[in-house]
Amino acid sequence: MQFTLSFVGPAPCTGLAALARKYGSIMYLRMGTCGVVVASSPSAARTFLKALDAWLANRPAVASAVDITYGRQNRVFADYGPKWKLMRKLSSVHLLGARAVANWAGVRRDEAGRSLLGMAEAAEAGRAVVVPEVLVCALANIVGQITVSKRVFDAQGDESSSYKEMIVSLLTGTGMFNISDFVPALSWLDLQGVQARLRRVHRQFDGLITKLLAEHAATAEERAREGRLDFVDRLRASSKDGDKDADGETITEVNIKGLIFDMFTAGTDTSSIIVEWAMAEMINNPSIMGRAQEEMDRVIGLHRRLEESEIANLPYLQARSLSGPAAKIDPMGNNFELIPFGAGRRICAGKLAGMVFVQYFLGTLVHAFEWRLPDGEEKVDMAETFGLALPKAVLLKAVVTPRLVPAAYA
Ligand code: HEM
Repeated sequence: MQFTLSFVGPAPCTGLAALARKYGSIMYLRMGTCGVVVASSPSAARTFLKALDAWLANRPAVASAVDITYGRQNRVFADYGPKWKLMRKLSSVHLLGARAVANWAGVRRDEAGRSLLGMAEAAEAGRAVVVPEVLVCALANIVGQITVSKRVFDAQGDESSSYKEMIVSLLTGTGMFNISDFVPALSWLDLQGVQARLRRVHRQFDGLITKLLAEHAATAEERAREGRLDFVDRLRASSKDGDKDADGETITEVNIKGLIFDMFTAGTDTSSIIVEWAMAEMINNPSIMGRAQEEMDRVIGLHRRLEESEIANLPYLQARSLSGPAAKIDPMGNNFELIPFGAGRRICAGKLAGMVFVQYFLGTLVHAFEWRLPDGEEKVDMAETFGLALPKAVLLKAVVTPRLVPAAYA
């Protein structure tokens, strides 16, 4: 089938789903000069992500990706090979595997507490809260602490506002639709100015990250003495004196920057957008919100906030986030009915962390506040827009009222 690029409107997944209903679950589309195969059913997904996974384990080297990832020296865009495997191993052992995710629980707890406090202050002052702003701030601070021991979104000082600006531009920049990716011959013209913008964001990212890494190196001994090594300390230790693994690979300083880039881009917006959609759904359906709160009040009470270890006792909450035991569909890439994290060799590296973020933050927000829309709004606008992780077209803004004892917001 021949389709023009104009087909990819503001909501390509809806358009592609409609086409799949008409033409079947495996479609070959010409988009610009590139061929694109779209798989739209569980069995088609299984074919591509399981049976043919080894052949499809590289991501395309599109112009937008090359410009912003140090020429694909990060993990997300690295070709499937020894360097990618080394990055996968190190990120799993030190950051995203089950043990590492459990080790960082205190950081998540602390950030959730700060979010609650900020929201309780907004409630007191009669201000509405912009839900994705609260979430991205918490997530970027979590990622910042576990990777480089820094709360990058701390609301004070010029330095943190440049981090904030940089992360927001990274998140908006990486999700843009770029004609050059589909008509590479036109790439040099940069018709929409996307590449120029990405290169600008990249320069800004590199400037800040180079400075941050230099500061980080200067305080390494202190962290080693206190036994609180972060991800970058461990990456550097792995490549100390040019040590190589069995495949002769080592992590370079540019790979370290690429991995930090990955964690801030892949690890913040994704989880935040899912929580935002789930909250929007619950605000529009008070009976769902009521049932989730009732379950939490029964299990936790109103005298304190949710602890991560209690999520296992909240089946209704789990079913409202990314599926889970209550819905009996495994979202972790084994059951092709639901693959929010993808599947196969290139499955999301942060699926465990993402799952914990989503359930813990969603549960915390639902339990700690009553939610209503600002005066004059009846329903949350559920329109979606184009982006890396299917963002809401209109950011969710709501008025909250604390429902726990005041000490729970400290
Ligand atoms: C609920 C939250 C999240 C969702 C829905 C999500 C979703 C995804 C998806 C769909 C992919 C592509 C998979 C494929 O190509 O088959 C991906 C890749 C990736 N994600 Fe996530 N993600 C989430 C959270 C995170 C977090 C918290 C991190 C890290 C801090 C992360 C890091 C990555 C990385 C590094 C990749 C690339 C993996 C590779 O190619 O080796 N993600 N994610």
